[in-house]
Amino acid sequence: MIHHPTHAGLVALVTGAGRGIGLGIARMLAARGARVVAIDLDPDLAARAGAEVGGPGIACDVSDPASVDAACAAAERALGPVDVLVNNAGISPKHGGRRADIDAMDAAEWRRVLAVNLDGAFNFARRLVPGMKGTGRGAIVNQSSVAAKAWFGDFPLTGVHYATTKAGLVGFTRHLAGELGPHGITVNAIAPGRIDTPLMRGAAPEVNETIRRDTPLGRLGAPEDVAAMACFLSGPDARFVTGQVVDVAGGWMMG
Ligand SMILES: NC(=O)c1ccc[n+]([C@@H]2O[C@H](COP(=O)([O-])OP(=O)(O)OC[C@H]3O[C@@H](n4cnc5c(N)ncnc54)[C@H](O)[C@@H]3O)[C@@H](O)[C@H]2O)c1
Repeated sequence: MIHHPTHAGLVALVTGAGRGIGLGIARMLAARGARVVAIDLDPDLAARAGAEVGGPGIACDVSDPASVDAACAAAERALGPVDVLVNNAGISPKHGGRRADIDAMDAAEWRRVLAVNLDGAFNFARRLVPGMKGTGRGAIVNQSSVAAKAWFGDFPLTGVHYATTKAGLVGFTRHLAGELGPHGITVNAIAPGRIDTPLMRGAAPEVNETIRRDTPLGRLGAPEDVAAMACFLSGPDARFVTGQVVDVAGGWMMG
């Protein structure tokens, strides 16, 4: 695949960049000329992703404001102000391949999913928006999910905590887009369908096969399918696009 240097001169920070969709996004942003900061909870995955994309790989827990502040300071020391923030880190706990139903969900699991999936986006945006306002440009891309808008039918996939956070990111995206538009900063979200990553393989194989059959384009997604949308939304071709949530789902769960 030929990549045009749409992101030359831009600094991009991707959370959850150690594997799966985040790694795909980090790779494609680098291929398009961005200088990329790879953030992950797992220090080995962060270091490996950083080495691969030629930028700093920083271990950080997105749910912890102090850890986020330290990671952003290190990123800015290495590369200067961040132009593109991709809030991709997210978790979807399973138990034996299925969600915890609400009456079996302990409060600590609920709290952890909100802390990673929602607070994580808040912590990074809060820390990096002042730099974007300073340069008068910026793009934030949040990783939502088709789970934000619809029930999956009888799949025991995602718990209410996960769906709550992904719907929360839609409100976060729209309101932040309104707030930051006057500063030349866009804020959009992606709602992936079923994408082949380690997270997805936590579910039973027959579930993924059923989803594949229900997907008009006839396959599960690849991280690169989502990465292409992250590059579009954070690049110059989307300069008049803000406050949007775009499905990348092969038609699965379409409106
Ligand atoms: N795979 C899918 O089908 C799918 C569908 C819709 C949305 N999504 C969303 O896309 C994003 C990426 O999913 P994925 O499938 O690549 O997941 P994944 O589990 O394969 O990768 C997630 C990465 O995030 C990191 N991470 C987890 N908690 C973190 C924390 N507290 N701080 C920093 N990093 C942390 C993990 O170490 C891992 O490297 C998530 O937000 C997920 O909800 C995935």
